[in-house]
Amino acid sequence: MSYKVKDISLAEKGRLLIEWAERHMPVLMKIRERFSSEKPLEGIKISASLHVTKETAVLVRTLVTGGATVTLVPSNPLSTQDEVAAALAEEGVHVYAWKGMNEREYYNAIGFAISQEPVVTMDDGADLTVTLHKLALGVKSNEVSYALETAGDRDFGRLIGNIYGGTEETTTGVIRLRAMAKEGTLRYPIIAVNDSYTKYLFDNRYGTGQSTWDGILRATNILVAGKVVVVAGYGWVGRGIAMRAKGLGARRVIITEVNPVRALEAVFDGFEVMPMSEAAEVGDIFITATGDINAITLDHILRMKDGAVLANAGHFNVEIDVAGLERVASEKRRIRDYVVEYELPNGKRIYLLAEGRLVNLVAAEGHPSEVMDMSFSNQALAVEYIVKNRGKLSLGVHKLPDELDMEVARLKLETMGIRIDQLTEEQRHYISSWGLGT
Ligand code: ADE
Repeated sequence: MSYKVKDISLAEKGRLLIEWAERHMPVLMKIRERFSSEKPLEGIKISASLHVTKETAVLVRTLVTGGATVTLVPSNPLSTQDEVAAALAEEGVHVYAWKGMNEREYYNAIGFAISQEPVVTMDDGADLTVTLHKLALGVKSNEVSYALETAGDRDFGRLIGNIYGGTEETTTGVIRLRAMAKEGTLRYPIIAVNDSYTKYLFDNRYGTGQSTWDGILRATNILVAGKVVVVAGYGWVGRGIAMRAKGLGARRVIITEVNPVRALEAVFDGFEVMPMSEAAEVGDIFITATGDINAITLDHILRMKDGAVLANAGHFNVEIDVAGLERVASEKRRIRDYVVEYELPNGKRIYLLAEGRLVNLVAAEGHPSEVMDMSFSNQALAVEYIVKNRGKLSLGVHKLPDELDMEVARLKLETMGIRIDQLTEEQRHYISSWGLGT
C-alpha cells in the first residue's frame, strides 16, 4: 500500500487547492524551477510529518521535482485537508493522512513514515523524530507501540544511523529537539527552520496572527469589536494574535506573561498586562500561545464569565486544562463544527473551540500561502543543505545559514516588486571599521 487517505475521489478538488496555493508561493516556485534542472535530491528518501495542507503540497511537489521520494503523514490528528491528501496520493506521494485521526491512527501514520526508511526527516512539533529515537532506544509507551504496528519489525538503530539529518518547523519542536541534544540523546543533526528570520518573524507573527482569528471566526462567527480579548503568551505568536485583535476592534487586549521582558514589551506595545487569575474574570475570548501546559487551568475557567470562548494557538493541546473541564462539566453539547459548550457546576457556560487543539489548522486552513511561501522555502533549502552536507554536520540543532535566510527575504521582496537600497562602498567600509569615531 502506498497511501491511506479518506477519499481518493477528492483528488481533483485537492489539485485546484494546490494550484491556488502555488499562485501565492512564488519563492518556493522559483526554488522548484531550480530543483527541476539541478535535481539536488535525486534518490533521496524523505519522510515528513507536517500539517497536510495545500501549502505543504506545494513543498512536497517541490521536493519531488528535486528528485526525492516523499512520504507524508500529519503533524496533528485534526489538521489534514482530505482533498489535498487525495491529490498528493494520486500523484504518487506516499500519504497516510486523514482529518480526525485518533491517537492510535496518528502514531500508525508516524510508524508508516518510519517504515519507509528515510534518509531525511521533516517535522512540525518533532513527533516523528522523537518517536524514531524512542524506537531506536527501545523506549516503551502507547505511542511507540502504535507506531510499531506500522513501522514493522526492523533494526531501528541501523535505520536512525543512516539518516543524514532532519528539519523542524516549529518553536515547540525545536525546544524538544534542543532538550534531546543537550541530554546527548539526539542521533542525527537537525536544521531548526523555525529559527530562520524569514520563518519566525513572519509565520509565527503574521501567519498565526491572521490564521488564529480566521479559525475563531469561521468556528463561531462572533464579533470581535467591543470584546475583551485575553492572549496568554507574548512570544511571536502571541504578538501577532494581539496585534490583529486590536485591528478587529477588541475593546481591551490583555496579555498574560511569565517573562518580565516580554511583559514589559507588551505594556510598551500598548497592551494591558495582568495575571491570568485576574484576566479570567474579565475576558470574553481567551487564546493561548505559550507553548507550555496549563496556561489556563480549571481554576481560571471556573472564574470566567458565562459565554467565554477558549481557543488554543500553541502546537499541542496542553495549554488549556481540557481534562479538568471535561471532569467537572455537568453537561457538554456540540453547538456547531469545532464549538463545544460546557456547563460548569456554577451554572456558567464556556465554549471550547477545536478541542483545544491548534484552532487555525483545525477550524480554518492554517497560515495563508504567502507566509508559508517563506517558511517552506526555508524547508526546501534546509533539505538541500542537509543532503549537500551529509556527514559534515555536527550532532545538534542548527540554524540554516544566514545567506540562505537572506536569499529567501531577497526573493520574497523581488516577487512582491519591492526594491531596496544597497550599501555604498563608503558605508560598507564605515560599518566594518572600528577606528572611525566622532
Ligand atoms: N502551519 C501553519 N499553517 C500551515 C499551513 N498552511 N500549512 C502547513 N503548515 C502550517
